[in-house]
Formats: sequence, C-alpha cells, structure tokens
Amino acid sequence: MMIDVLTLFPDMYKNVLNESIIKRAIEEKHLEVNLINFRDFAEDKHDKVDDYPYGGGAGMVLKVGPVVRALKSIENYESAKKIILTPQGSPFKQSKAYSLSQELHLIILCGHYEGYDERIRSYFDEEISIGDFVLTGGELASMVMIDAITRLLPGVIKQSSHQNDSFSNHLLEHPHYTRPREFEGQKVPDVLLNGHHAKIETWRKEHQLKKTKDKRPKLYKKYLEVKRDD
Ligand SMILES: C[S@@+](CC[C@H](N)C(=O)[O-])C[C@H]1O[C@@H](n2cnc3c(N)ncnc32)[C@H](O)[C@@H]1O
Repeated sequence: MMIDVLTLFPDMYKNVLNESIIKRAIEEKHLEVNLINFRDFAEDKHDKVDDYPYGGGAGMVLKVGPVVRALKSIENYESAKKIILTPQGSPFKQSKAYSLSQELHLIILCGHYEGYDERIRSYFDEEISIGDFVLTGGELASMVMIDAITRLLPGVIKQSSHQNDSFSNHLLEHPHYTRPREFEGQKVPDVLLNGHHAKIETWRKEHQLKKTKDKRPKLYKKYLEVKRDD
C-alpha cells in the first residue's frame, strides 16, 4: 500500500515511521509512506498556506491553492482514495481501518489552524474523524490511522493476531494471561492450564461476551443484532 500524507509538519512522523510494526512494514515493502509538505506549493513570497477568513472571525483558514496543487502533484492522485481529516468526519473505527487496508493508494490531508477553506473538501472522497475532540492538527490523527491500517495489511502481522482483536466481530477481546501462574494471590484460571482446546475456546468466548456486555453495552447490542440477522 502507498500512503501519501499532505502535512505542514512532516518531522512529526520521524519516530512513528521508524519504530515497531510500521518500520518493519516499510522495510518489508508492505507499506510506503510519502510525506508531502503542502507549504512547498505556496505561491506567495512568504510561503503562506493560511489566510484570514472571509466574513471575519477568530483563527486562520487553510488556503485552497497550496493544498490542491500538492494533491495534484501526486502521481495517479485521481485513482487514490482521498481522505480529509476533520473532527466533522465520520468516526474512524476498526471496520474502516479494515476497508482502508484493502486500498492500494491512500492520500490523507492533515489540517491545521481553524480549518479548511470549504472548497478543499470537493477534492477529497471522504472525511474522517478519530474522535469527538479537537486536536491542533491532523498529524496525530493520521498516525493513528496509519498504525491501525498497517497492522491489517496482508503479511504485516499474522492474521490470527488481529482477527480476534477487539471490534473485529463486534466484540471486545477475551482476557489474556502469561507467566507466572500466580502473582500476589491472583491465579491464572485453571481452564487455561489444562490444554483442553475446546474448553479454552468456550471460556474465551464466554469472557469475550461478558467483557463486551459490561464495558461496551452498545457494542454488545450491535453484536446481538448482527448475530440475529446472520
Ligand atoms: C484545530 S483543528 C480545527 C477544528 C475546527 N475548527 C472545527 O471545529 O471543526 C485543526 C485540524 O486538526 C485536525 N483534527 C482535529 N481534531 C481532529 C479529529 N478529532 N479527527 C481528525 N482530525 C482532527 C483536522 O485536520 C483539523 O482541520
């Protein structure tokens, strides 16, 4: 997969792209990330990418010209899935991470300041938010998305490692334990120690359901609805 990120702060990505699973995915050519500073596409002598809002008001607005010129500089940008990051977008969920992981080419625009000149929106396919809060810029949001998408790319991690992840089947994940068998009086459940795979699966499913019902009742309701419709 190729991801082009349109950002004013490419240096923010240095650590994230050079650590852990994303680093390996890039090294093993599952993923290519290009950081494009759309300030390079400003046309005035001060490289300005923002300006005062028509009609007045607080904050500066991202100008349409530099963003659109940067977008059009990307090879095959027409066929890419073009995403604009905004708190007004549809919520980024595991199901969205999964569907985006099936794309060959993503372009992600990170906003800044008060927001975008409204005309920028017409050049993009989809608006995404990573939650109901307001960040200073889209960079952290794009890194969250890149991380969630990368681990779903074929060959990056074992499919079995993510197919039971929380949210994959409208459920949270079951509890995990590792050594030691007992820590400060807390014991690993016996069922996990006896090697009886069917019993272990039953225990895991029961706890998956209980965790989801207790912690995320709306998700549990969705799970029951989907199960009923199957
Ligand atoms: C300070 S915010 C602008 C918020 C805007 N004034 C509003 O109220 O909708 C600047 C940029 O950060 C990014 N951003 C902020 N919160 C975000 C969120 N929850 N999800 C995705 N991107 C976000 C967007 O790219 C946004 O254009």
